[in-house]
Amino acid sequence: MKALTFCGKENIEFQEVADPKVTAPQDAIVKVKLTAICGSDLHVYHERETGLDHGTVMGHEFVGEVVELGKEVRNLKVGDMVTSPFTTSCGACFFCKKGLTARCVAGSLYGWVENGEGLHGGQAEYVRVALADSTLVKIPEGVTLTEALLLGDILCTGYFCADMAQISPEGAYAVLGCGPVGLLAILGARELGAQTIYAVDCVPERLAHAQRFGAIPINFQQQDVKEVILEKTQGIGVDAVLEVVGSNAAERTAVDIVRPGGIISVAGVHTANTFSFSPVEAYDKNLTYKIGRCSARYYMDKLIPVVQSKKYDLSSIISHRLPLADGKKAYEMFDKKCDNCTKVILENS
Ligand SMILES: NC(=O)c1ccc[n+]([C@@H]2O[C@H](COP(=O)([O-])OP(=O)(O)OC[C@H]3O[C@@H](n4cnc5c(N)ncnc54)[C@H](O)[C@@H]3O)[C@@H](O)[C@H]2O)c1
Ligand SMILES: [Zn+2]
Ligand SMILES: [Zn+2]
Repeated sequence: MKALTFCGKENIEFQEVADPKVTAPQDAIVKVKLTAICGSDLHVYHERETGLDHGTVMGHEFVGEVVELGKEVRNLKVGDMVTSPFTTSCGACFFCKKGLTARCVAGSLYGWVENGEGLHGGQAEYVRVALADSTLVKIPEGVTLTEALLLGDILCTGYFCADMAQISPEGAYAVLGCGPVGLLAILGARELGAQTIYAVDCVPERLAHAQRFGAIPINFQQQDVKEVILEKTQGIGVDAVLEVVGSNAAERTAVDIVRPGGIISVAGVHTANTFSFSPVEAYDKNLTYKIGRCSARYYMDKLIPVVQSKKYDLSSIISHRLPLADGKKAYEMFDKKCDNCTKVILENS
């Protein structure tokens, strides 16, 4: 089959790789219909995250059709249309039972093969899914393929970031980063009742989208974010910051604009070894700092009814749809935000 593979820094190739096979009785093989590029793929692309074997199939966002099943899979049948959270999970371990499926003891992240171990990704014609029964979700009625694709990662991740922020209707919130995950964090915050949401980025089209989603845009290249937020909150700061970038610069801004006793909720993937704020600063602000990988499998069940309600125009964040074969170009566009690129879907014919 053909797939998009990691071939070194900023080098993604569309090339022939081995077809995935059922290797464990709990496996499923899914014929990928749609797949997407995530901000997390960019950390690998730029080698901010390292360790991935060259030749690893990229990607962890996909939907498709079950074409083959291992002997022990009970809940699925060939022909089912499915979506997947971006990590696999067993559904039965200590962490899965707590809803922390991202930390399942038997789980893996798609698109991460290191020293020959791990799962290849979904930016391919076919993908092997481990622990298929407890990982895959059949696409429910009233959910489009595009919505099901967003449900597997970024819709859940945006909501998770808002959930950690303990939203209340009278609070003021700031979302740092208006990429696809930040935009969905704005909707997550609204779903949880937030009325006042500031959205920070420097890309005009993304800020315009944040505004369409109900947030107040702040361009950090044109305005001093700390000054604006303090002015709008009578010098107090926001109740919580939703940090959806994953950089020390954004982390620093978060500390500057959160109020004493406030929460910094981080969905951005961090690759630095040190914090940009000190324990003294954290103490002096009575700060709560929450961070981590989203347990998408857990949140998917919660968010299916929200998707079915059609309350939000989720697919409006998709700016481009290209064939999988154009994946190399799609990575460049998404990375450089060319042509107002916000989120790219890659399609298999
Ligand atoms: N925690 C999880 O489970 C999880 C899941 C999915 C994605 N992520 C992470 O979420 C982050 C966002 O993903 P995305 O797909 O939206 O990526 P993206 O790269 O498209 O978006 C990041 C946005 O942040 C903006 N930005 C950069 N520096 C900024 C700053 N200092 N202040 C404010 N905005 C700034 C950029 O202009 C860009 O629009 C990434 O780090 C990704 O790895 C985490
Ligand atoms: Zn992702
Ligand atoms: Zn588990």
